[in-house]
Amino acid sequence: MLPTAILVLVTSALAAAAPVADQGPGCEVDTVQAPALPKTGGSKELPDPDSGLALKHIALGFGIQNYTCTKPGVAATAAGALAMLYDITHLYPKQGADSLSAQDFNNLTSKALWTHKVPLNMNRHEPGASRTNPFTRDAPLHLQGQLTLPFLGHHYFDAAGVPTFDLDGGKIHLPCSKLASVDAPVGADKGPEGTGAVGWLYLGEKPGAFGSKYVYRVLTAGGVSHGCNQVGTDSTSYTATYWFYG
Ligand SMILES: *[C@@H]1O[C@H](CO)[C@@H](O)[C@H](O)[C@H]1NC(C)=O
Ligand SMILES: *[C@@H]1O[C@H](CO)[C@@H](O)[C@H](O)[C@H]1NC(C)=O
Repeated sequence: MLPTAILVLVTSALAAAAPVADQGPGCEVDTVQAPALPKTGGSKELPDPDSGLALKHIALGFGIQNYTCTKPGVAATAAGALAMLYDITHLYPKQGADSLSAQDFNNLTSKALWTHKVPLNMNRHEPGASRTNPFTRDAPLHLQGQLTLPFLGHHYFDAAGVPTFDLDGGKIHLPCSKLASVDAPVGADKGPEGTGAVGWLYLGEKPGAFGSKYVYRVLTAGGVSHGCNQVGTDSTSYTATYWFYG
């Protein structure tokens, strides 16, 4: 009898010491790591998120950066952006069964930009997307038959030119303004159009926001202007990850 009693004691002690992991069945994750905002590794970094804030979502943004040219030969002026947003929070390393390696997570923006067409209603005969109906339907993004990214929302500039994010089924509305920017890392993906990766940004809420106060644009790929070859509007495809805090 004695050995059995000891065994029972030892077993229950082990069970009590086991970490509480609230994961789905068949999914054993010993440490769930809180996602850490990526760094450029350069001499200048974006400010860290306030320690009191929670990460609400990590999104993949996939769309276009708009530019206007008033005169050939001068630099193009940034004129807003449009992007579909897909949820990639669960793909961050060590979150659960769907998590990717750090390398694959950091390369998601490249993978989407190089292997999938821009998920907007693009114009056939002129640059950019439809002015009246630019967004494709609210549907997941499938990458190379391997990854399914759930639809999360939209990024656009409102009628007053304010960068705005609408996501999570109406739970987050974030009109915002730029608080800080840094160049993308030197090795960042220049995109299929070869123009370069747009900078990393830190944006803060404007009046009317709810559900989130700050968003970072990091791990950018593509999106830099083609330059001013002719007067008018132009756009460049891009992807980025957007990190929402609140
Ligand atoms: C990143 O993705 C691109 C596009 O799919 C691919 O060509 C490249 O090999 C990937 N790089 C890494 C380091 O995985
Ligand atoms: C960007 O250009 C597209 C057309 O290419 C248009 O649908 C969209 O409204 C523009 N967005 C901004 C912010 O200018």
